[in-house]
Parts: sequence; C-alpha cells; structure tokens
Amino acid sequence: MPVAIRDMVHADLAECAWSGSPAHLRAVEKELLLAARDRADYFVACPPSGLPVAKGGITYQLAPGSGTIWQLAVHPALQGLGIGTLLIGAMEDRIRERGCHSAEIRVEVDNPRAQALYARLGYLAFAEVPESWETDDGLYETTLTVMAKHLG
Ligand SMILES: CC(C)(COP(=O)(O)OP(=O)(O)OC[C@H]1O[C@@H](n2cnc3c(N)ncnc32)[C@H](O)[C@@H]1OP(=O)(O)O)[C@@H](O)C(=O)NCCC(=O)NCCS
Repeated sequence: MPVAIRDMVHADLAECAWSGSPAHLRAVEKELLLAARDRADYFVACPPSGLPVAKGGITYQLAPGSGTIWQLAVHPALQGLGIGTLLIGAMEDRIRERGCHSAEIRVEVDNPRAQALYARLGYLAFAEVPESWETDDGLYETTLTVMAKHLG
C-alpha cells in the first residue's frame, strides 16, 4: 500500500480521533497554529484515501538548533508496518531543511518498544526529563527519555 507523507492541515484533525483524547487533539491543534506561523511542523502519513493513519509534530522550542519530534502515533491497526519509520525519515528531512543539525525524540521511559525503534534509527538516549500534560481526566505526570541523532 503506498503511503504519502504531507503537512497536516486543520481538516485532518477530525480524522485523527484514533490518535488520542479530545485534550490531545486540542494540543495538536495548538501546534498546527504554530505551524501555520512557520514556528513548528506537523505531518501526517496517508494511504491513497488521503485519510491520516499516522501523525507527528516537530517543535523547535525545546532544544536550540535541534528539531524535537513528538506526538508521534500510528493508527493501532497499522503499527509495525514501517509507517512510523517512513514518517520519522520525512521529519528528519524537514528538520535539516530548517537548518538544524540534530533531531531529538522524547519518549516515555516505560515505552521500550518505541525506544528500540528510535535506537535502531540512530537515536541515542542522553537524558530523562519530567513532563506533564492535560488529559480528559486531569493532569498526567510522567518521565520522558530524551534521545538525539546527529543529522549529517
Ligand atoms: C511507536 C510508533 C510511532 C512506531 O511506528 P510503527 O509504524 O509502528 O513502527 P515501524 O513499523 O516503522 O517500526 C517497527 C518498530 O516500531 C516499534 N513498535 C511497533 N509497534 C509498537 C507499539 N505498539 N508501541 C511502541 N512501539 C512499537 C517496535 O520497535 C517495532 O519493531 P519490532 O517489531 O522489531 O519490535 C507506533 O508503533 C505507535 O504509534 N505506537 C503507539 C504510540 C507510541 O508508542 N508512540 C510513541 C510516542 S514517542
């Protein structure tokens, strides 16, 4: 199945309910507003239907000179098929185009499978940071492993 990567647009939000709660989608919407002002990037991966089956954002606010990949999610029915790898490759290209020489990914400490994927793609863990975000049930607190990759 061919999968195309493109910039996410506001109309895609309604088709991304599979990726998280309404609170998560509000956070994505905020990032889309920043992307519209050229201060962030947000991508979706779509089969020929054009409907998003994966999505992920890049923020340039967390690490100077680096693009941080976050909010990465592949539709649960389509995980493990290479779509996340494809999306990360496209995101690294955009980070390079913006003149950054490294990419970072933040992933929860208790998600070793995702960490294994990022390690396979060349990311090295170098720090752990506390993080929290609003959910529909209140504030969720966690610890994230920060992983980085030099982009040649
Ligand atoms: C992590 C994720 C983005 C990777 O995308 P993907 O398309 O599934 O990954 P790919 O097919 O390109 O690569 C396969 C690898 O991804 C990882 N992976 C696959 N399914 C996964 C899952 N449900 N959760 C975490 N990692 C997963 C594994 O390392 C896998 O390799 P393995 O099969 O040898 O164990 C995707 O699986 C996902 O959305 N998982 C649930 C949410 C999540 O963990 N997000 C990460 C936030 S940082």
